[in-house]
Amino acid sequence: MREKEIITGFHKLSKEEKINAVAKYFKNPKETSQFLASFWYSDQEQQDLFDEFSENTISNFHFPFGIAPNVLINGKNYLIPMVIEESSVVAAASNSAKFWSTRGGFHTRILSTTKIGQVHFLWKGKKEELENHFPKLKQELIDGTNPITKNMRERGGGILDIELVDMRNEIPDYYQLKASFNTLDAMGANFINSCLEEFAAILKSFVLRTNEICDKEVNIIMSILSNYTPECLVEAWVECPVEEFDVMDADMSAEEFVWKFEKAVQIARVDPHRATTHNKGIFNGIDSVVLATGNDFRAVEACGHTFAARDGQYRSLTQLQVENGIFKYSLLLPISLGTVGGLTSLHPLAKFTLELLGDPSAEDLMQISAVAGLANNFGALRSLTTKGIQKGHMKMHLLNILNTFAASEQEKEAAIEYFKTEKVSFNAVDSFLKSIRK
Ligand code: MEV
Repeated sequence: MREKEIITGFHKLSKEEKINAVAKYFKNPKETSQFLASFWYSDQEQQDLFDEFSENTISNFHFPFGIAPNVLINGKNYLIPMVIEESSVVAAASNSAKFWSTRGGFHTRILSTTKIGQVHFLWKGKKEELENHFPKLKQELIDGTNPITKNMRERGGGILDIELVDMRNEIPDYYQLKASFNTLDAMGANFINSCLEEFAAILKSFVLRTNEICDKEVNIIMSILSNYTPECLVEAWVECPVEEFDVMDADMSAEEFVWKFEKAVQIARVDPHRATTHNKGIFNGIDSVVLATGNDFRAVEACGHTFAARDGQYRSLTQLQVENGIFKYSLLLPISLGTVGGLTSLHPLAKFTLELLGDPSAEDLMQISAVAGLANNFGALRSLTTKGIQKGHMKMHLLNILNTFAASEQEKEAAIEYFKTEKVSFNAVDSFLKSIRK
């Protein structure tokens, strides 16, 4: 493919022109344009909606949409939609869900739902003077954002508090207005950011209007929500008598399994390399639900990883307790989600997902997502500490490998039968196909 030229004003081109500007780099531009168009919705209105989700759109990128059945949460049975490209994630969640469905299911609770936003600013004056005026400023910040917060307040949410935070030990003259919010069932990013930008304007004008402090100007650096929401916490856990684990592995007693599982959990607490992979397995489950509901999985991931490092070392997000013969395995993390606004009501499959989940509140969705995370992690540790991950993983991956070799339906059937008893690998599938294609 030839070198790409610098393009000015790409965003101003029509969709067709954008496609042409990309397709021209391919051997057959016409075929390339048709290929991109083949992923469009046939319904033009639907396609326009998708194009407007983002910018410079030329096609749609599809992901598999799967279901983990039998997920019992606080006594209620769910079919959980999961959007993920990795084979074996939905299978791992489903297997765990099935196992726990006859052992009390998953239990969850919400610990808090507070979201955070900050106005970062510099101030060269005396801290005490700013502090003295802060009660008056705070009232102005609240009153001045009344038009923005009106609807949210009427529904029971809004601004919870605003603090003045002295950060001068980190950066000279650096302060924050740190505000906490309850955004109810909305993810609330636009609501929070609108409040913060208004706070910044009010802060600036307040200082200019206030005699004792007007000689030192406030320098607003930025106003933005924080994706770290350690007080938007959810806990999910499973528990059962240790002897229930006698079904885990033919060669392992229940006690041996629990002992090994406990060691695996301890390792993930103390070693950041393992903790990262352990937590990645948790986010396999969480992200796929977050994506299926049209929520922001980058925000959820970023927050979870910061929380995992809250004591200064990156650690696993799960805890295991084995006491008096009872195994209790739990996941605690912040997950900030919305079930109204944003893509939740615009993306047809996000809408479908929420309906299938029984139109959950944001708190319900936090709990469902946490369960998906715990289910996936439990499934991963179960495999890792017994038969290993590759056997199941490669079996699930078999179809991808077969598709890479453009296997026909007949060849796929033959391969699935053959690999029931053989070890799956890229080379083994290659050899098998060669042997039957001869
Ligand atoms: C793979 O996507 C996830 C795992 O690596 C998680 C883990 O190791 O715990 C299996």
